[in-house]
Amino acid sequence: MKLAENKATLSFSNGSPSIDMPVYQGSVGPDVIDIRKLYAQTGMFTYDPGFLSTSACQSAITYIDGDKGELLYRGYPIEQLATNCDFLETCHLLLYGELPDAAQKADFTKRVTNHTMVNEQMQFFLRGFRRDAHPMAIMTGLVGALSAFYHDSTDITNPQHRDISAIRLIAKMPTLVAMAYKYTVGQPYMYPRNDLSYAGNFLHMMFATPCEPYIVNPVLERALDRIFTLHADHEQNASTSTVRLCGSSGTNPFAAIAAGVACLWGPAHGGANEACLNMLEDIQKMGGISKVGEFMEQVKDKNSGVKLMGFGHRVYKNYDPRAKLMQETCKEVLHELGLENDPLFKLAMAVEKIALEDDYFVQRKLYPNVDFYSGIVQRAIGIPTPLFTAVFALARTTGWIAQLNEMIGDPEYKIGRPRQLFTGNVTRDVKPIAQR
Ligand code: CMC
Repeated sequence: MKLAENKATLSFSNGSPSIDMPVYQGSVGPDVIDIRKLYAQTGMFTYDPGFLSTSACQSAITYIDGDKGELLYRGYPIEQLATNCDFLETCHLLLYGELPDAAQKADFTKRVTNHTMVNEQMQFFLRGFRRDAHPMAIMTGLVGALSAFYHDSTDITNPQHRDISAIRLIAKMPTLVAMAYKYTVGQPYMYPRNDLSYAGNFLHMMFATPCEPYIVNPVLERALDRIFTLHADHEQNASTSTVRLCGSSGTNPFAAIAAGVACLWGPAHGGANEACLNMLEDIQKMGGISKVGEFMEQVKDKNSGVKLMGFGHRVYKNYDPRAKLMQETCKEVLHELGLENDPLFKLAMAVEKIALEDDYFVQRKLYPNVDFYSGIVQRAIGIPTPLFTAVFALARTTGWIAQLNEMIGDPEYKIGRPRQLFTGNVTRDVKPIAQR
């Protein structure tokens, strides 16, 4: 980051002396005011719940221009990555800063595929869960449990430990998600097949059985690979910030990523893809396209508590570029499977059209986000709705680990420790229980 020529001056109406604060510039995007000395100089904190105006770190990984609807991983537009690269190339880019050449790609793929199996003991963890457990509950437990298996790589101050943990996490997440699925349907776990692509192997572990050969459909493989690429990173979102905050205490990478999985689960974040599909199914049950108007009235009524899931974003105030790509993939997958007339897809298109023309959404700049179409694609592939967010977690693991490693390597990093505006009781005395 570069020191800007101008400074910010903070003055107070009560006559306290004003203070100057440095301003820094990034390579693109808003400048930041450095408030690190504010408390020492004024005895005051800043107040920004929800981080509406706060950058909590410097990062060189992902850039979003929310007004333009632009998403760049290490400078490359998401549209170009989704069209010209596969997920493992994108992982290499996010982790190491550059797209791999052919030899680097082969080496990286080999390193990842060498780690796709999980310790056989993992299945005993699974057996402790109810068969109807939510996959994200299972994933939170399993990812955290990985730290119990890799004592050789839990020191995040050691760059080699960080690297091998990154590879292990990227390699093992598909295996764990597929195991969580197989467990809930009562089928045998399928071991990974390292001759398949990353997405192809995931399809195999999900849908193959030991009874008959399973042939990976290349259109579905490509669609899944694209889902992974589109979800791989998204700068300082809630789960990534959770991973950074958790990792800032020096905890091991598996524990930090488990915290990210837990955060992602919520319906305002990664859980939106599941919530969006459930919402579309509810509208379908109400009567389908003819009921969209009625549903929209509920969404616009602030007292109803109903939100249009898959719409709106803290950063995008324009069409989410990932949603456009996902809509394209959705059409390809439905065509491949002969589901062009899929009622939920038609319903989603109708909802989108009505919302984009409605003043409520226009004024608030609410556009479809990545989750609006990803559920329909996953459902068409055969992935059950409760597993959608686990697939998101699988893909986002690369971003989480890249951001965690970037933070640990940053000489300015400190344990994250937000402050507060205290509004509770001031000191008071405890009365004996009989007098309370
Ligand atoms: N449906 C109806 N109204 C909405 C929606 C929506 N989906 N999203 C925002 N609004 C309204 C909101 O009520 C507020 O209205 P008003 O100004 O009258 O009070 C205004 O738009 C601004 O919204 P906000 O809640 O201040 O925005 P935020 O930045 O705090 O929230 C969000 C962003 C993504 C949590 C929110 O848009 C939302 O809940 N969307 C639905 C859930 C969803 O699709 N989440 C996935 C996000 S993308 C993938 C990911 O990050 O995991």
